[in-house]
Amino acid sequence: MSEARPNIRRAMLADLDALVALENSSFDHDRVSRAQWRRHLRSESACVLVAEQSRHMIGSALLFFRRGTHGARLYSIAIARHARGRGLGAALLEAAEREARLRFCRSIRLEVRVDNLAATTLYEKRGYRRERLEPGFYETGADAWRYRKDLTPATG
Ligand SMILES: CC(C)(COP(=O)(O)OP(=O)(O)OC[C@H]1O[C@@H](n2cnc3c(N)ncnc32)[C@H](O)[C@@H]1OP(=O)(O)O)[C@@H](O)C(=O)NCCC(=O)NCCS
Repeated sequence: MSEARPNIRRAMLADLDALVALENSSFDHDRVSRAQWRRHLRSESACVLVAEQSRHMIGSALLFFRRGTHGARLYSIAIARHARGRGLGAALLEAAEREARLRFCRSIRLEVRVDNLAATTLYEKRGYRRERLEPGFYETGADAWRYRKDLTPATG
């Protein structure tokens, strides 16, 4: 039997455990803590998206908005290891951009570790431009690239 299609939706408080588990299995450092996820799930200035398949969470994305600005920040995106390489990261990124457009954002920025080939390739293929190096951006002292994409306005 073929697998159900992944579904992308906004996260709820009930997703907290699965978000923390996915975060811990996806990142070795600079993790979003349980308390931070809880806060973001309740916050007006954050949007948490999840991808699920057969009721299992297989992806998450965390976006921040700042009042009075027209820029969104994609803080993190993660796909469960077993679900990578199937277009889900790109689908979540597109969903995050849709959320940003709905909030009248004109651009999205993000930081990504310079040696994260999967993520930098994903972003560059989806129209993100490398803006500058952020030396020592991560807890480990690793450098990040900052990327930005200008968004076209929402339609329909
Ligand atoms: C980065 C990440 C989200 C990509 O998710 P994914 O579902 O595997 O990505 P997709 O299948 O949608 O791939 C989208 C594009 O990314 C690129 N890509 C994905 N994995 C890649 C890899 N291992 N090497 C090179 N390019 C890769 C490809 O260009 C691909 O496009 P294509 O299939 O048209 O060639 C995933 O690898 C991940 O969760 N990594 C750990 C967490 C992380 O590093 N997050 C980003 C920093 S916040």
